[in-house]
Amino acid sequence: MVSRVIPVETFDLVIFGGTGDLARRKILPGLFRRFLSGQMPDGSRIIGAARSDLDRAGYQQMIRDAVAEFGGAEKNDTKGLEAFIEALDYVAIDAKGEGGWAQLAGLVRQDVVQAFYFSVAPSLFGDLAERLHTHKIANAESRIVVEKPFGRDLDTARALNETLASHFDERQIYRIDHYLGKETVQNLMAVRFGNMLFEPLWNNHYVDHIQITVAETVGVGGRGAYYDKSGAMRDMVQNHLMQLLCLIAMEPPSQFGADEVRDEKLKVIRALQPVEPHHIVRGQYDAGPDGPSYREDAENPRSFTESFIAMKCEIANWRWAGVPFYMRTGKRMKARSSEITVVFKDLGHSIFEGDEARHRNILSIRLQPNEGIDLQVTIKEPGPGGMRLIDVPLDMTFADALGPDAEEVPDAYERLIMDVIRGNQTLFMRGDEVEAAWSWTDPLINGWEARNDVPKLYDAGSAGPEDALAMIHRDGRRWREIKA
Ligand code: BG6
Repeated sequence: MVSRVIPVETFDLVIFGGTGDLARRKILPGLFRRFLSGQMPDGSRIIGAARSDLDRAGYQQMIRDAVAEFGGAEKNDTKGLEAFIEALDYVAIDAKGEGGWAQLAGLVRQDVVQAFYFSVAPSLFGDLAERLHTHKIANAESRIVVEKPFGRDLDTARALNETLASHFDERQIYRIDHYLGKETVQNLMAVRFGNMLFEPLWNNHYVDHIQITVAETVGVGGRGAYYDKSGAMRDMVQNHLMQLLCLIAMEPPSQFGADEVRDEKLKVIRALQPVEPHHIVRGQYDAGPDGPSYREDAENPRSFTESFIAMKCEIANWRWAGVPFYMRTGKRMKARSSEITVVFKDLGHSIFEGDEARHRNILSIRLQPNEGIDLQVTIKEPGPGGMRLIDVPLDMTFADALGPDAEEVPDAYERLIMDVIRGNQTLFMRGDEVEAAWSWTDPLINGWEARNDVPKLYDAGSAGPEDALAMIHRDGRRWREIKA
């Protein structure tokens, strides 16, 4: 298979929070892989900036260690690693003071692509943005990258947008939702808009309902302090699941361009209806043989924060009116599995006498692990005995279909950082999109807080609380089985 690595322009990438967890686990190992693939041009530089009092050699050693700990097979390429390490520099910086800024100004070039990754607490965004300007480091073409959580409600998200907007244009701001960088999430658009087969059926005439499941086996141990203030709604639904919902439900954009795609996603979010309280089930995992309960992990014995949520949502537009979208996500569930399932309606009339079973086509898009597509079709059971029908899967696992020579799939962060350098915002969230998402989730969160809603306990290693099963059963439907 021909490699399709397209070199980007020479760049200076400054990572504020360059010694932090995200930088060491994801950003730098990812950049190293891009370097090895030949995508990072000679002369490009990555400058870590953080509070720690390190020098260049100290930072280089930190990143060598990070690649050894978090990198994949590529970490054995020691020659390549040393060449990559040469591109690294470091500045000890005081985000709220003046320390380090003159040094940074001396390092960052004005005649190459500039990107500033704000891998720091959002409370520092304003300080960083301001100093980048007063020290004349940033220019009108610089890009800045910000991470989730982008606010914790509409007001805080608006305030962050305003802070950023007072220093940078929207076309310079890259808000990361790492789900959009996942290869299989991009595949949702390829499946929908690259095939004649599905789009004509993709509406309320043919679709009975849609399910979105993002199940994780991990708990919140280690990040309980953050998570307990957030919960599954803010941590997963407001961003990752809503992005999946948008990609599944949006109208075809006129082209695969940043604003064309984001305009269509925004329309979906704006068409989302308020969710009735009895269409929301919140859960908390209990202790199990393999680990402590949520409350123990979060070190908050009275916590009402949800580690699981299931909801029935509706999109009020011509395409989707009347089609329920069931979404659920949770920690410590029975398997790690993210899947979107489109369940088509029953046949209007069966011509096969005696066939009383319900036959329906089900398209399932597996996002992770074991990425692929599975389409359930009805066929005749082979052999004599009349027209007996059975449902069989047309199962395509991408790894098998594409064969051993398929290009290695880049990690979401690698892909997204290179898109920043390339200046392509298609897979990043626009400010109005983030605000619209909070406008939909805020009243739901406020509603359960006002009701003092207590999350239902569920067994670790299960499919979530019984109430979530009951919610969909009441509609005469059932969840897809969660399996790895
Ligand atoms: C993060 C959430 O954004 O996404 C985590 O904060 C979650 O709680 C993670 O575990 C899931 O990402 P992935 O790529 O493992 O599906």
